[in-house]
Amino acid sequence: MRLQVVLFVTFIVLLGSACSSNSTPAPLSIQPTDSPERIAEIAASPSLQIGEQVYMRQCAHCHGYGGEGQPPSSTRNTLSLGMNTVPPHNATGHTWQHPDQLLLEVVNAGIQNPLDHFPMPSFEGKLPDEEITAVIEYIKLWWTDDQRDSQQLLTERRAETEARLD
Ligand code: HEC
Repeated sequence: MRLQVVLFVTFIVLLGSACSSNSTPAPLSIQPTDSPERIAEIAASPSLQIGEQVYMRQCAHCHGYGGEGQPPSSTRNTLSLGMNTVPPHNATGHTWQHPDQLLLEVVNAGIQNPLDHFPMPSFEGKLPDEEITAVIEYIKLWWTDDQRDSQQLLTERRAETEARLD
């Protein structure tokens, strides 16, 4: 009788885990800070939707769900260790000061800085190129129009320089 109970419980546990691994992931919740325009822009673009999914699953726990940087709950701890916090990607950060080519390189290669408490991992081989491009486009939605224009200019200049050097 005892054995039967154990087997039955094991069966239920296995059944439960099989069901949960087959279930489709819940849809992503829209950020409370998102403006109606931003929500509409994301909804209209399959690539931005991919960018949002990649960001929320792979980047948000470090860079903040609204691109605001390392969550305040862990920032004090990081600073008390004398280490660097994770930078923001929104308009207060400096991600917009780098051309696309450099942002792609950073996401592919990661950044090995021993002073970073939560170092930037390498996503090469973990995310396909289209997803890396899509997540960078998604990050750009947090910038101001001026920041976007200026970053686009940097990207174009860099492409011209690279073409000249080829
Ligand atoms: C484990 C935490 C962590 C995760 C996960 C993470 N990052 Fe980072 N990221 C960092 C840290 C820390 C830095 C700053 C590194 C430095 O400058 O020393 C950084 C830097 C960057 C930079 C350069 C920023 C700048 O302004 O120069 C980009 C771009 C970036 N991350 C994008 C991403 C993207 C996109 C993802 C998800 C696909 C991601 N990161 C996931 C920790 C993380």
